[in-house]
Amino acid sequence: MGSELYLDKHVDYIKSLDKKSDFDSVVMEHLRMNGAYWGLTALDIMGRLGDMKVDEIVPWILMCQDECGGFGGNHQHDPHILYTLSAVQILALFDRLDAVDADKIANYIAGLQNEDGSFSGDGWGEIDTRFSYCAICCLSLLKRLDRIDLEKACNFVANCKNFDGGFGCVPGGESHAGQIFCCVGALAIGGALHHVDRDLLGWWLAERQVKAGGLNGRPEKLPDVCYSWWVLASLVMMDRMHWIDKKSLEQFILDCQDPEAGGISDRPDDAVDVFHTFFGIAGLSLLGYPGLQAIDPAYALPVTVVDRIFYGQKK
Ligand code: FPP
Ligand code: ZN
Repeated sequence: MGSELYLDKHVDYIKSLDKKSDFDSVVMEHLRMNGAYWGLTALDIMGRLGDMKVDEIVPWILMCQDECGGFGGNHQHDPHILYTLSAVQILALFDRLDAVDADKIANYIAGLQNEDGSFSGDGWGEIDTRFSYCAICCLSLLKRLDRIDLEKACNFVANCKNFDGGFGCVPGGESHAGQIFCCVGALAIGGALHHVDRDLLGWWLAERQVKAGGLNGRPEKLPDVCYSWWVLASLVMMDRMHWIDKKSLEQFILDCQDPEAGGISDRPDDAVDVFHTFFGIAGLSLLGYPGLQAIDPAYALPVTVVDRIFYGQKK
């Protein structure tokens, strides 16, 4: 609960995760690369990335890279496009994209594109628009979008559009705010936002706000802080953020804080985790909450990081 952001507590909470070796961390082991991205990006938005030891983090990331060019969730884990994007995003945060061979990563990603333009997540073949987003976002950060058939990739995403304006994980899949973020993000980065019906989808997304102020991911579901990101980032990319009530959403996120131990949960009084801590902070950043760095809604990285990559601002 709270009426203000307990920034210092959240910084301490994220830093404490590094040292934990309890049951949670063991369960989260395979997700470490994603967890590192969530935690470090949240710290950067709060202006505290400088507290972290870049000389330990970058070598660990490099250790997670497989010979094929893709990254695993941890050292000696199988590579997957989800972890590959997180690894590249973390290197971007630290301005260390020079530490990797961009062509090798791009070859790995290009090898996951299928004939219909879709992407598999890894060598096992599961197809999902989440992986289209990962591929397009990652290649864009590496300035290697020319290595895939981008038009086909965007057309596949467009084929996942439903009658309600939303998007699913494959053609015919139910609209879901998480998938909508991936599809709108992929189309935004791919320069193909014309596939999106902004008014129809904007209406569907604005309908995700419940009385308590929070946002849900699908009709009839409970509100959840992570949808402050999936829904809001999509609305920002479509220039429709003003279609939701910003003040009550801000209050919902603030109510999900743990004021003592730090961290943010999915909804008030639940246990906090790094995933919802990131999405709460990122959502507040999109809402323009004071004291937070602006986050880019498509790349899910601080705007300063994205500008540095594309407009060459110096360290
Ligand atoms: C819902 O998750 C979220 C999604 C389906 C989108 C996931 C997007 C990515 C993995 C792309 C990378 C993201 C970023 C920010 C860089 P859920 O399984 O919790 O859904 P539920 O609420 O229905 O359980
Ligand atoms: Zn959630």
